[in-house]
Amino acid sequence: MWDPGKYLAFADHRSRPFHELVARVAATSPRRVVDLGCGSGNLTVTLGRRWPDAVVEALDSSPEMVTAARERGVDARVGDVASWQPAPDTDVVVTNAVLQWVPGHEDLLREWVRALPSGAWLAMQVPGNFSGPSHELVRSLVDASWPALRGLLRPSPVLDSQGYAEVLDGCAVDAWETTYLQRLEGEDAVLEWITGTALRPIRAALDDGGWAAFRAQLAPLLREAYPRRADGTTWFPFRRVFAVARVP
Ligand SMILES: C[S@@+](CC[C@H](N)C(=O)[O-])C[C@H]1O[C@@H](n2cnc3c(N)ncnc32)[C@H](O)[C@@H]1O
Repeated sequence: MWDPGKYLAFADHRSRPFHELVARVAATSPRRVVDLGCGSGNLTVTLGRRWPDAVVEALDSSPEMVTAARERGVDARVGDVASWQPAPDTDVVVTNAVLQWVPGHEDLLREWVRALPSGAWLAMQVPGNFSGPSHELVRSLVDASWPALRGLLRPSPVLDSQGYAEVLDGCAVDAWETTYLQRLEGEDAVLEWITGTALRPIRAALDDGGWAAFRAQLAPLLREAYPRRADGTTWFPFRRVFAVARVP
């Protein structure tokens, strides 16, 4: 289950890539703007502000997130991006930090490009940190002590920027990668960060006692890899992969 509170605790770090992504979309007066995997809607509202005349469509597979988005005034609905199809007037599609959860999303991107009207914009961002120490430590802990959880760990579910440029071939593509050096606050900040995202399947598979034991084993490993600094903050480098395509 997605926890809107946990997710929003890191809103600044998470919203910057969204804004940098959308800044590369040059649509002037789109008819329909779609936010696929809109989460709690705090970024969707910025799409409505930028394009006030557009219909803003938003969907997310999590009922909790959709409720949070609707409370913000976003006309969101529960839905799976894997079965979403663009309405004929869709001029902008944004999907930020979502497709890493969607197996086979490369084929979806190809289908969307085929279905979108000429001139439409498709903008996506996914985390590209699946071989970073935080993921490697989770993997080695699971391998060593939690074999029943092995099936929950996936090989990297995303491509690099060139991979997405190739998937979107035929469009005018702008693809890039950025590593953000994030300064996190608080105790066990990296653990808290990944609890809201990458550890979600593990949290869901364990009861409260199992989860507490898992966290207790992971916390010192993360503390060693990402030491807390004298001022109480922790550096957490985080790579992200972006692609913006304009349909010919
Ligand atoms: C990391 S959050 C990103 C939310 C928002 N786009 C943002 O940038 O803040 C990922 C979101 O993707 C949603 N999600 C994951 N798989 C999905 C799917 N197959 N269809 C729709 N939403 C999905 C989750 O419920 C969650 O709200």
